[in-house]
Amino acid sequence: MMPPPASVIIFGITGDLSRRYLLPSLYHLLAANLLPTPLIIVGVTRRDPNKQQIRHHLIERLQATGQTVEPQLVNQLMDMVQLQSLDLTAADSYHTLADYLDQLEQQAGICLSRLFYLSIPPTAYGPVVDLLGEAGLHRSCHHGQPSRLMVEKPFGYDLESATELITRLTRNFHEDQIYRIDHYLAKETAQNLLVFRNANPVFSAVWNRHHTKAITITSSETIGIEGRAAFYDPVGALRDVVQNHLLQLLALVTMEPPAGRSPAALHAAKLRLLEDIVPIPADQVMRQTQRGQYSGYKRDAANPTSTTETFARLELTIANDRWRGVPVIIQNGKALDRKTTEIEFTFADSGLPEAGTNRLVFRLQPDEGIAVDLLAKRPGFADQTDTVSMDFAYASSFAGHTQPTAYERVLLDGLKGDQSLFATSAEILASWKIIDNVISEWAKTAKDLHTYDHGSAPHSIGKQRSK
Ligand code: BG6
Repeated sequence: MMPPPASVIIFGITGDLSRRYLLPSLYHLLAANLLPTPLIIVGVTRRDPNKQQIRHHLIERLQATGQTVEPQLVNQLMDMVQLQSLDLTAADSYHTLADYLDQLEQQAGICLSRLFYLSIPPTAYGPVVDLLGEAGLHRSCHHGQPSRLMVEKPFGYDLESATELITRLTRNFHEDQIYRIDHYLAKETAQNLLVFRNANPVFSAVWNRHHTKAITITSSETIGIEGRAAFYDPVGALRDVVQNHLLQLLALVTMEPPAGRSPAALHAAKLRLLEDIVPIPADQVMRQTQRGQYSGYKRDAANPTSTTETFARLELTIANDRWRGVPVIIQNGKALDRKTTEIEFTFADSGLPEAGTNRLVFRLQPDEGIAVDLLAKRPGFADQTDTVSMDFAYASSFAGHTQPTAYERVLLDGLKGDQSLFATSAEILASWKIIDNVISEWAKTAKDLHTYDHGSAPHSIGKQRSK
């Protein structure tokens, strides 16, 4: 299905996210003929609008990521871009923007479905959304169809601020107009989780506490904070990745099969699971969590007293019939030994004396694929077994198929109005509830914050406690 004629209004078009992801994604979608006709990209910026600069950002990024730059496509995309300077804090500017959008639509002779993309500091979401609402921009084209609002994480800073933000957003935009991005959900392998599990009875049959010994979700990066101190230091690993990306992945792999294929069915299944995760009790925080900070972080953050964690691990339990008693570990960190995101299921022991265990690993990145560790008899006369791996790699099994990037998917789904891969208000709140005690206990003391060396393995950080 092609998306209907649309305008995408990008707040912060000159910012890092837009340069790295949005502009290149629009370029690729255009190359793949997936953008609607017409599409008007309105770049909103506080600085002096300068189209040459936007073109330069796009070309620079495409080159930096080793992609071919097709001058004709660049021109075609740049022809779609209109720039508007706007003072984010001034109500007048939003009325000017509304008139400008009306005018563009009159010129095009068509009503456009409007998608507002907020690539601005999260503290500005509330005020900007209020001003959009006041200027009537929550509706598209002459106050007709509802507009859509796309926002980046983090949604709030803790349970209280998230609740406040959601109340504020939903005063102006209805839940079905809000697209909260969690780009992990838009990764190709994340979408395969459901298919894999439900379409292969060999796995759906063992997807429960009777056959599963443990579930571990790890996301690690080799880089540190790379000049993002202003964003990262007040946030840390728990809020940056665990509260959103990792809990969403956990919900996807452990939820009950959704009652249908609609976005609502998927959201309901994820929410039920998130609500079944036991929030870590205050008096268990020190037992069920570990945190660390890479050595040299304080210098990178230019904050000599920073206690921000760059590594966080939570040990969770899911209180439902399917998963009761299965330990779940989710962990994220920077400056670690490798860049990876993977979900590992360790299955129950076979009971054979010398045997290892079956494991199933979903590799979300890099080398997207799925591996199963099996036990096999070692060739020869001795009666011994070894663990061998059956490995499915997207790169070889689907060679020739292009994998869209997460942001291409996010933008296209937003244009189509498909909310499946976005997180709902209720899911966001349920996720904050799970970690709310961790946030408050960690704020009291940092005596458990371990310093780790660059290149450490995640399992080596903090004290691994068994249940
Ligand atoms: C973002 C975090 O959401 O995800 C970053 O804010 C992190 O700190 C990034 O680096 C990782 O994304 P990916 O897709 O490279 O794993």
